[in-house]
Amino acid sequence: MTRILAIETSCDETSAAILDGTGDDVTLRSLVILSQDVHRVYGGVVPELASRAHLTAIEPVTRRALSEAGVELESIDAFAATMGPGLVGALLVGVGFAKALAFARQRPLVGVHHMEGHLFATALEHRDATPPFTALLVSGGHTLLMDVEAWGSYRILGRTRDDAAGEAFDKVAKKLGLPYPGGPHLEKLAREGKPGALRFTRPMLRKNQVPGDNDYYDVSFSGLKTAVMNELQTQDSRPKTQDPRTSADIALAFQDALVDTLVEKTARAAEQHERTKVVLGGGVACNKTLVAAMRTRMASLGATVYAPTARLATDNAAMIARAALFHFERGQRDGLDLNAYATLPIPGLIA
Ligand code: KG4
Ligand code: ZN
Repeated sequence: MTRILAIETSCDETSAAILDGTGDDVTLRSLVILSQDVHRVYGGVVPELASRAHLTAIEPVTRRALSEAGVELESIDAFAATMGPGLVGALLVGVGFAKALAFARQRPLVGVHHMEGHLFATALEHRDATPPFTALLVSGGHTLLMDVEAWGSYRILGRTRDDAAGEAFDKVAKKLGLPYPGGPHLEKLAREGKPGALRFTRPMLRKNQVPGDNDYYDVSFSGLKTAVMNELQTQDSRPKTQDPRTSADIALAFQDALVDTLVEKTARAAEQHERTKVVLGGGVACNKTLVAAMRTRMASLGATVYAPTARLATDNAAMIARAALFHFERGQRDGLDLNAYATLPIPGLIA
């Protein structure tokens, strides 16, 4: 059994977790997540404020993770931290703190790729969410459709050509006057929308696309965002009495177009690679409409959908600990020269 203490500081959550385990047999001993509220005032994450908030929060958050787990620092076998991708200043705080702990305790250090963490998150709650599976990772910064043959062996099938799914939610929400981060607020507003009041074109989704086409799996959301903006402008220029469509109708139509696109692209991936499991991850996996639509569509293919709860879908250190355990067991040991990276390829990519 290996005991890992992991730290995640890639964006605006300061998180620490302690996990015990061997292979896929793991126990999450504790998970502490402190979300930085300061960014709400600015309607988006301000990198320097994020770094400074991590700097003050990291020690108490880590101490709390140890006390909630009921374990002593001396019992930790390895320390892990997210090394990228993310905000470099924010990542440096977590990497530096993990280094200090590893150095002080003379224990190994393991750097983890943030998106690989998201891949492992669902397996912490669902024992069957293990490879092989089709993965859809949808967060504020990334949209990745992957075929996961085994842990550590990943094929990227599609990605976004412009905005990430969460980013599209946040930008459209902002235009609709909703608070940041807008995803959850937009989902709530969409519940009041009239089905069919409005329809946006499904981006990059055409019936005649075939495997091998470079847009078969990729997605793009900037056109959809522009369609929403145009609709809002048209509404503004019409007398209210002539236009019964509301922002809730727009929110619903936007969400439907985005969800449909993600579901169809994921179905293509599962079908093509004959996978019977689909694993969702990232903050947008909190979206109930997405999860429900994915379940219905995958049931028609005989595939099961695994979605994490909100706590593990959004950024957290438990998923980093889980990915770190995998790499620790495969012998990964990082030096005290471990760096942080704004962009970083996922390890284990295969053609
Ligand atoms: O994975 P995450 O916590 O952070 C990143 O690594 O980016 O994802 C945050 C994103 C935000 O864009 C947020 O608006 C979105 O996830 N999100 C949602 C929902 N809950 C969070 N988007 C749509 N519907 C939701 N219910
Ligand atoms: Zn994330």
